[in-house]
Amino acid sequence: MNVNFKIWRQDNPHSKGHFEQYGVEGLTGDMSFLEALDHLNERLVANNEKAIAYEYDCREGICGQCGIFINGRAHGPHDHMTTCQLHMRSFSDGDTIVVEPWRAAAFPIIKDLVVDRSALDNIIEQGAYITAKTGTAPEANAILIAKDLADKAMDAAACIGCGACVATCKNASAALFTAAKINHLNSLPQGAHEASKRVMQMTKQMELEGFGSCTFTGACEVECPEGISIVNIAEMNARRAKAKWWG
Ligand code: SF4
Ligand code: FES
Repeated sequence: MNVNFKIWRQDNPHSKGHFEQYGVEGLTGDMSFLEALDHLNERLVANNEKAIAYEYDCREGICGQCGIFINGRAHGPHDHMTTCQLHMRSFSDGDTIVVEPWRAAAFPIIKDLVVDRSALDNIIEQGAYITAKTGTAPEANAILIAKDLADKAMDAAACIGCGACVATCKNASAALFTAAKINHLNSLPQGAHEASKRVMQMTKQMELEGFGSCTFTGACEVECPEGISIVNIAEMNARRAKAKWWG
């Protein structure tokens, strides 16, 4: 199959970006979207042209590195799927496919489709961990956890930190990401001891990083590849209010 890629090119954070068009031939429906970009890059390199910069690591929906906007949707046309899990069979022969980086003030563009998402790491550093010195790994059943709590924590822990929620939100809010990271630990007995400190510090850092406020449009939940629910945001806000007034 042949497609026409319209791709955002930008040399560095300070230069002016622009779209460039590339006709690409010889693709197959079984190629992943990233393989199609690899195919284009091989041609650019062979012609001594600048390769397109894009991020990836696992290419199997785990690491959260590969997020880009494809035809105006975070991670492309399907729900609950990362860019690396998208295949060219989702497009038709002759399609024009518009490819852009995440766009948010807190995610400055580094080059082409690569943005700096270290603002999310800075939120994590403020409490998405447990500081108790536990020694070697404890016996798995030493602390019994109810099934519903375990499920809730695991659902929140599924966040891969891709940033699609921020990029797709009209306010560029990081509320869904932050809430997932807080609730994953605050739902469990192991995280309870530092629960108030965690929610206060992480939400404060979220604001310092320049993310917008959440107005509950729900766009983040729709585009999240892991299906993280916005119920997590409501719970984060409730936990924060409780921590602020009652400690
Ligand atoms: S909440 Fe979803 S969209 Fe946001 S960073 Fe986590 S996995 Fe990505
Ligand atoms: S490359 Fe790891 S999630 Fe896509």
